[in-house]
Amino acid sequence: MTGIVGYACIRCGARYPADLVIDSRGCPACHAEAPSNLRLVLTRESAVTGTRRSEEATAVPSLWRYAHRLPCPEGMAVSIGEGLTPLVPAPSLGARLNVPLLLIKDEGRNPTWSHKDRFSSVAVSVARQQGVRVVATASSGNAGASLAAYAARAGLTCITATFAGAAGPMLAQIQKAGAVVVPFESKLDRWTFIEEGVQRYGWFATSPYRAPVVGSHPVGIEGYKTLAYELVEQMHGAVPDWCVLPVCYGDALAGLWQGFKELHAEQCIERLPRLVAAEVHGSLSAALAGGQDRLPDIQASSSTAAVSIGATRSSFQALSALRQSNGLAVPVGDYNLVAYQEQLALEEGLFVEIASVTAIVAIDFLRKKNVISSADHVVAISTASGLKDIDLSMTDSPPIPIHSSTKNAWSFISNEVELA
Ligand SMILES: Cc1ncc(COP(=O)(O)O)c(C=O)c1O
Ligand SMILES: [Zn+2]
Repeated sequence: MTGIVGYACIRCGARYPADLVIDSRGCPACHAEAPSNLRLVLTRESAVTGTRRSEEATAVPSLWRYAHRLPCPEGMAVSIGEGLTPLVPAPSLGARLNVPLLLIKDEGRNPTWSHKDRFSSVAVSVARQQGVRVVATASSGNAGASLAAYAARAGLTCITATFAGAAGPMLAQIQKAGAVVVPFESKLDRWTFIEEGVQRYGWFATSPYRAPVVGSHPVGIEGYKTLAYELVEQMHGAVPDWCVLPVCYGDALAGLWQGFKELHAEQCIERLPRLVAAEVHGSLSAALAGGQDRLPDIQASSSTAAVSIGATRSSFQALSALRQSNGLAVPVGDYNLVAYQEQLALEEGLFVEIASVTAIVAIDFLRKKNVISSADHVVAISTASGLKDIDLSMTDSPPIPIHSSTKNAWSFISNEVELA
């Protein structure tokens, strides 16, 4: 018993049975007009009632402490310690940006060093429970690295369709976990390949594989609800004024919002936060401004170092979360991302992926515009570790000299720092 009653469309609310084939098109009724992802509808046992509040934090040392809110029982979970990441105060950065109440949720502390582990743990758990033997994804980034690890843990075959130019560290993670890597020259072929695998062999595809993208498999998105549960717990029942996160297809944004909405509906929290999408090219910003449900595909005006979130079109699930939370989207392009990355490491000791830094750029922007005030509690969700795209991060770093003697070393470092 998975706890899945069925699916509901995020846009039109239409209900679908639990045996609906998830085919990356999202809601069949909305597909032609404005494609929209589905969300899970859980059984009463899985959905929590107010009386469960006191039992919320069980002793389970992973996000599965919230299993009663997830589509799989804890005893059936595929877990390697995902979630429960620290919420770190950022006093120095916060002082400089004049956002003194800035907190960073460091998702780089997950098992494969990104927030995608929340998704993969839940998706692979449900897939295994349903008897799936092969999981597949069209990602050679954090999602692929994460899925490969959880598939390995579950004893499932994992197929990752990749493209030339995938980041070395993430590719290494995928290969070390024994996933099959199938590189393609074109992104479209990657998607067609996954689609054919789904149709011919019943693969459980976790990533999107059709355009326009609606988002990833709804089962995995449930995992992101735990971001909201953890934040509220870590803030002792309080709710931040703002949650800011890097957004691509908006899986994490949609799950985070769903988590907050659940807590609010059950009166576990008194209010809801405003959500901010830090995006690269601006499709969410354009859709928010234009009021349409179909997101525009933005012509990329420049390349970006925030490769993990570099897609030119986001999804309706992200737009809907922003609208409902009275939220905002901030297009950051390639704006000083490596410099912000360095500042975060220098001021707070946190080395995060370039894509993750976009959340800080957006906070800086909104504070300067006085949209975020200096009295606001602000959470930046830092989605991945800086070791994930190390090559990109180091592009402009000066070479480190090797010293021929300690005398040389002393004269070098005495110019660099105070020695005592
Ligand atoms: C580091 C990082 N941050 C953020 C995202 C955004 O993911 P999404 O908006 O699809 O949840 C991704 C993946 O796409 C990522 O790899
Ligand atoms: Zn619909």
